[in-house]
Amino acid sequence: MPDLTAPGAPVLVIGAGIMGAGIAQVAAQAGHPVMLFDTREGAAADARAKLGTTLQGLAAKGKLAPEAAEAALARIAPVATLDAARDAQLVIEAIVENLEVKRGLLRQLEAIVGPNCVLATNTSSISVTALANGLTHPGRLVGMHFFNPVPLMKLVEVVSGLHTEPAVAEAIFDLSKAWGKVPVHARSTPGFIVNRIARPYYAETLALLLEQAAAPQVLDACLRGAGFRMGPCELMDLIGHDTNFAVTQSVYDANFQDKRYVPSLVQRELVDGGLLGRKNGRGFYRYPEGAPAAGPAPQPGPSRAAAGWANGTAHLLPTDGRTAAELARSLGTPDVVVFDRALHASGALACAAAPACSEAWRTQAMAWLAEQGHEPMLVADTPGLVVARTVAMLINEACDAVLQGVCTPEGADAAMKLGVNYPAGPFEWLARWSVPGVVALVDALDTHYRGERYRVSPWLRRQA
Ligand code: NAI
Repeated sequence: MPDLTAPGAPVLVIGAGIMGAGIAQVAAQAGHPVMLFDTREGAAADARAKLGTTLQGLAAKGKLAPEAAEAALARIAPVATLDAARDAQLVIEAIVENLEVKRGLLRQLEAIVGPNCVLATNTSSISVTALANGLTHPGRLVGMHFFNPVPLMKLVEVVSGLHTEPAVAEAIFDLSKAWGKVPVHARSTPGFIVNRIARPYYAETLALLLEQAAAPQVLDACLRGAGFRMGPCELMDLIGHDTNFAVTQSVYDANFQDKRYVPSLVQRELVDGGLLGRKNGRGFYRYPEGAPAAGPAPQPGPSRAAAGWANGTAHLLPTDGRTAAELARSLGTPDVVVFDRALHASGALACAAAPACSEAWRTQAMAWLAEQGHEPMLVADTPGLVVARTVAMLINEACDAVLQGVCTPEGADAAMKLGVNYPAGPFEWLARWSVPGVVALVDALDTHYRGERYRVSPWLRRQA
């Protein structure tokens, strides 16, 4: 195995699109001679020219020494044919996301590269095991999954398929570190780590929209109040509903239509109607107006509302997964208001009242939440409200990923914080909540909806 971290190790990047250009920049800045190939005439040269502007811009802002910018650009060479692969110690492909096209390229490469050359794929959804099928030396293929924009996003998922030799995965892990990234090992399964664990962030909001529990503005405000940089609706508008729907569909299909990953009618209607989000002017929100501006950032620290409040027979309770109606029945009083899991000491917080709750108690309960520093937002009486059910399902999905050997708990935390900027990792949330609390909430969702979607991960149940 060659030492890929040696700055002189030549790297060939195939595909000079958004990702390939970013990968070329990072490799060149780390000191590697980088060859760039694209089948589209002039694409590699155009990408190099754009990288020149980017690197100059970094130098102008003082983020890079002018000589370093010049040297990095000088290391990037567009190449006209794949024959250049002969000199490469590492080839990273970032071409079109298509199994057969990628397989064809990898087979072609095997006939050119030297015996020790490592082949890496930046695929975001195709099985690394499937891509290796048919190669003469399938052990040298590994996933090196960067995130967009490559120079800024720290995470690299190092994806091993059934054939991948451990030494090859380790070499890419070390190289990613040398490039200033934070690598995380992943087993090749649908969505790898980030695209899999993140599904409930969108799915729970889409489920709440389908049952008309709250408006997009309210759901976004509640999740921003929990520390997420963007609410799910504004984030889906940014990603593009076509892209987000396609990823969900691919994870769903790759899991043999497991109901846990079922795509949403709400999103399909947006896609069918051409309401793709920011890129064409309208999704959940209209652009340029966009989502309502975020309020002040929520204050970290324990929420004073966490324990709830009672006044005579009237109750204001934190959600445990039961609806306000169910709690009212079990407490034998109509005056019940339930509030969401408060991850911060301030910010928007969902709450719901039991059907026969008096207006006086609802008003008083909301005033009490406001006094504690929150911005109470009334939503329909749904189990687990907004944040609790979303975070519980993110934790649950992460536990299943660990159960299936996709990643370690530490790997999941790092991946979600660095790949999609979550304010904490799923296992960090779990440590601050409690295993029985999360299990009870997901079980309550299962009881309420009666389907296959809200299955507690056996890994999580075992911790209890
Ligand atoms: P892109 O469309 O911007 O670029 C792809 C480039 O590959 C194009 O310039 C195209 O001409 C070239 N190409 C297509 N077939 C080729 C072939 N047979 N040989 C050489 N060049 C070929 O696509 P993007 O977004 O850069 O994606 C590339 C890969 O990275 C895909 O596998 C994608 O799933 C993955 N990826 C994309 C992310 C994103 O946010 N765009 C994030 C992480 C991974």
